[in-house]
Amino acid sequence: MRRSGEPEPADLDRCREEEELKADIIFRNAEIIDGTGGPRRKGDVAVTGDRITAIGDLPEMAGGREEDCSGLAVAPGFIDPHVHNDLAVFTHPDMASVVSQGVTTIINGNCGFSLAPLTAPDPVPQPLRMLFGLNAPRFSSFRAYSDRLRAEPPAVNAGCLIGHGTLRVNEVADLERAADARELRAMSRALDEALDQGGIGLSTGPFYAPARASSTDELTQMARVAQRHGKLYVTHMRDEGDRVVEALEETLEIGRVSCCGVHISHHKCAGVSNFGVSAHTLGMIDAARMTQDVGLDTTPWTASSTILNSGRHRQAQRVIVAESEPFPEHAGRDLAEVAAEWGVDLDEAVERLLPATGIFFIMDEQDVQRILRYEHTMICSDGIAGGTHPHPRVWGTFPRVLGHYARDVRLFSIEEGVRRMTSLTADRFGLKERGRLRAGHFADIVVFNPATIRERATYDAPVQAAEGIASVYVNGTAVWKDGEVTGSRPGHVLP
Ligand code: ZN
Ligand code: CU
Repeated sequence: MRRSGEPEPADLDRCREEEELKADIIFRNAEIIDGTGGPRRKGDVAVTGDRITAIGDLPEMAGGREEDCSGLAVAPGFIDPHVHNDLAVFTHPDMASVVSQGVTTIINGNCGFSLAPLTAPDPVPQPLRMLFGLNAPRFSSFRAYSDRLRAEPPAVNAGCLIGHGTLRVNEVADLERAADARELRAMSRALDEALDQGGIGLSTGPFYAPARASSTDELTQMARVAQRHGKLYVTHMRDEGDRVVEALEETLEIGRVSCCGVHISHHKCAGVSNFGVSAHTLGMIDAARMTQDVGLDTTPWTASSTILNSGRHRQAQRVIVAESEPFPEHAGRDLAEVAAEWGVDLDEAVERLLPATGIFFIMDEQDVQRILRYEHTMICSDGIAGGTHPHPRVWGTFPRVLGHYARDVRLFSIEEGVRRMTSLTADRFGLKERGRLRAGHFADIVVFNPATIRERATYDAPVQAAEGIASVYVNGTAVWKDGEVTGSRPGHVLP
């Protein structure tokens, strides 16, 4: 018995169909680059709420808002697997340097240093101090960190690795030696808990002083914990210069012994004497991939950037002072010039400028291109938001790969470039329903002009938004439009 006023079943069907013909936003006449690496095709993309609802020819659909994307590409928002914005998500929540490049998802906590769980008292050793500043907020658990992020979300989606270096600073009494059995148990327990609470993997940085004395066994024990959670061992290897081959061997061994997937961060071969070595390291990675799970990412620049006293100034052809606490006026100047002015050698100039960060020209262009071209390489920026004279990677990485390296140098197609910053990365880090344009997936979307996209950031003028990024959406909400941030903060905490 139907009461009067209740809809007929036929009406319900009709209403549902009409509902299906509506969307919040429709991107019209776009070149759809779906993130899989396949060729672009013309069509429309419909978004309702935080999801993509339809892709293809959608003339019968009506959008609450319609964006004409003639001549523009619509692609999945880019995923940056290697950044250090653990703190910047709170202090720079608009993430202008990130979203202006088309990046919609970031992974923090890299190189062994996550902001959570940090319990050690100040002063914390470098590079923690450079990454998170003096008086960094303390989060006694990873849950406390992610709860705060959920309460104060940034513009982008953010996942976070758990840093072995951070755990070491918390638990190991003497950082100059390997952890003893009790300390190892404490670190394993802390890692286990943090991964339970949503840490998306483990990161290590035996290159850096707080972890340099960690043994291969200690790192392997950490990797075992990550493996039990089905998560990755992500590493800034012990050496990226004269001993990069040994460091890669160590990383692969850690993966084999622990059965954990390993991921090599910002792969490089630093120093003039190591120019060309990437042909060998990529061969090692390729061979290892037959029997174990190995991945890697890289940045599209011949210069790297880290703390000024990393020793890299001895391998570099040129060094730019990025930041210096006692001498902020020297930010952006050549280290050699500053040293000459003071009448001291480079080592002494470095000492005087500390605490400081630098930009080091240490790689061969041919190695950069060979690593980029390797089919399993993902794109990362290794950036930190903020700073007055950062490395240009902070603002320019992703547009540089698509504009300079894909379109102009033709290392690969733009579609392939997009794959290395979307689906490849999402699959690697287990980011579900992101990294591809597909109905039902989250509406993380970048609209860009394939003919004009390029980075504008340079070593001399690094704080500049890229050209050719028309608009950027995170979970269906615009975060970048008409060359500026919208102020919306729709980011999710991942996973
Ligand atoms: Zn690193
Ligand atoms: Cu890093």
